[in-house]
Amino acid sequence: MENLEERIEQANTLEALEKVRIELFGKKGALAAEFAKLKDVPGPEKKAFAEGLNKNKAKLQAVYDERYELLKKEEIERLLKAEAIDVSLYNNLNEKGALHPVMATMDKIIDYFVALNFSIEDGPKVEDDFHNFEALNLPKNHPARDMQDTFFFKDGAVLRTHTSPVQIRTMLAQKPPIRMIAPGAVFRKDYDITHTPMFHQIEGLVVGEVGEVSFANLKSVMSDFLHYMFGDVEIRFRPSFFPFTEPSAEVDISCIFCEGEGCRVCSHTGWLEVLGCGIVDENVFKAVNYKNVSGYAFGLGIERFAMLLHKIPDLRMLFEGDTRLLEQFR
Ligand code: DAH
Repeated sequence: MENLEERIEQANTLEALEKVRIELFGKKGALAAEFAKLKDVPGPEKKAFAEGLNKNKAKLQAVYDERYELLKKEEIERLLKAEAIDVSLYNNLNEKGALHPVMATMDKIIDYFVALNFSIEDGPKVEDDFHNFEALNLPKNHPARDMQDTFFFKDGAVLRTHTSPVQIRTMLAQKPPIRMIAPGAVFRKDYDITHTPMFHQIEGLVVGEVGEVSFANLKSVMSDFLHYMFGDVEIRFRPSFFPFTEPSAEVDISCIFCEGEGCRVCSHTGWLEVLGCGIVDENVFKAVNYKNVSGYAFGLGIERFAMLLHKIPDLRMLFEGDTRLLEQFR
């Protein structure tokens, strides 16, 4: 029996112990063999023999149980270690996030105009022909519609190509005076280093009584705004054309990369075009039934501002979600 106890003690794994258990306690095991001898023991000694066997069996069982508990505990500890999950793996989630540069630029622009008491207006991204074109003095077959590479729906609705339709919606919903901006996403069939099919614009509109709103007002607000955005730059107003404004201007700043010397970014002109603006065309006021008013409007692309402010070479980078770019804005 000493020998049997030793065999239990020597089992080093649950598997080995199980083998020993079968060898000792199984139907054909060592103990069963001992009990089988009982039938050959002479009558008077049977009782003592049986008692001895049972005592030994109980002792072995106790040794076995103790060994089993020990090995089981070791096995659990081993499994816990092997299957441990490193909860610190994702601790970089603690790192601070940041606004996307496009949203940060949008916020900076909005801040400027909110401080000047402009309201923030909104409109749908799926627009109808009237708001996106017609009311903005872009009648059907007007050649200026070619300026817009439009996504059309089958029913004639469009993804708005600019935020200008919000001017129309606001004037139809409110009485003058109006002093509003409309930030938001717009859509055009375009894709190259300075264009993506979705981008953001901010539209501005100021309407007052006749004589109250002038090109001089527009010029001073735009100049001050561009100095706020780009610091100490030269500003020039270039005559241009938009169907919804007359007269119209495009506004340039002196190139912030070469300070006007001429470089690749400014196509060696020394100037960067940053926004469009003008005096609201009479036909636009007619479309919304406004009488005896004057106004100015402007529109700009937010991604273009973000690119210039942060010297991002390819506009498409702003939408690739590459964290190597984004984490620089923390
Ligand atoms: N809607 C024009 C565009 O998408 C931008 C624009 C230019 C808006 C002049 C205006 C404006 O309100 O007066 O290119």
